Amino acid sequence: MITYVNGQFLPEEQASVSVFDRGFLFADAVYEVTAIINGKLIDFEHHMARLQRSCKELQLLMPCSVAELKQIHLQLIQQNSLQEGLIYLQLTRGNAKVRDFLYPETGTKPTLVLFAQQMNIIDSVKAKTGIKVVTVEDIRWQRCDIKTVSLLAASMAKEFARQQGADDAVFIKDGYITEGSSSNCFIVNRDNQLQTRGLSNIILPGITRRAVIELAGEQGIELIEKAFTLDDMLAAKEVFITSATTLVWPIVKVNNQVIGKGEPGEIAIRLREIYLQKTQ
Ligand code: PDD
Repeated sequence: MITYVNGQFLPEEQASVSVFDRGFLFADAVYEVTAIINGKLIDFEHHMARLQRSCKELQLLMPCSVAELKQIHLQLIQQNSLQEGLIYLQLTRGNAKVRDFLYPETGTKPTLVLFAQQMNIIDSVKAKTGIKVVTVEDIRWQRCDIKTVSLLAASMAKEFARQQGADDAVFIKDGYITEGSSSNCFIVNRDNQLQTRGLSNIILPGITRRAVIELAGEQGIELIEKAFTLDDMLAAKEVFITSATTLVWPIVKVNNQVIGKGEPGEIAIRLREIYLQKTQ
């Protein structure tokens, strides 16, 4: 695969960053994952708006414009003949040449890395069968609204899920579900409302979450942005997660308990289909 590092397109074997890079030493970096379907970028402008916000929150300067970032994405799609998959972008505070907690003085250039990855998004088996999840205590920090590369808690949660024979983990904090380990979480509650937690500092403002809420509105599905408990989730008619790479994946089991009829729910299937239609 051809990657991009600080202005250069390089084969992945030649792509590297310094051991002093602050992304490596302090997870002082933000990222975005944009889905590619039929060779096209999905919801690109929204991903870039969130990237700009992440940068602002961390006083990290973008090294180039959104228009230039778009050109780099398009080049990677073209050079890798990518039809379906993702483009990963990471922007770090750069190589400060020493290990120092403080932000470096001006003059340190940010590090910008992008790469492409092939992935089946449309014909995903899990979208058809639904997934099993386990709940895990949300031990992440208080700024989950910033999309940083500090992902160890998510990695630990996913590994725990795998060891329990589940496909993924959903975080729980103070008795309420926050979000999936790398996704947002929705339920269809007993009143047939689509319910998801409201935005705050403890969840990521998902781009797919935003798109799904918009589609639900167009479909006349009632939405309520309100936190829900594990019991609410277990009693729900449907549960599903959303993210750029999964779009909508139904959840059929939580902590080994069956949700609804134990198969992908009608609303999750419908929202996924409409989302896919809109990308064509
Ligand atoms: N993760 N919440 C968390 C904690 C996430 O890591 C993600 C995405 C989402 C969904 O956001 P979006 O719809 O914008 O993809 C919610 C990406 C896909 C990842 O880390 O691979």
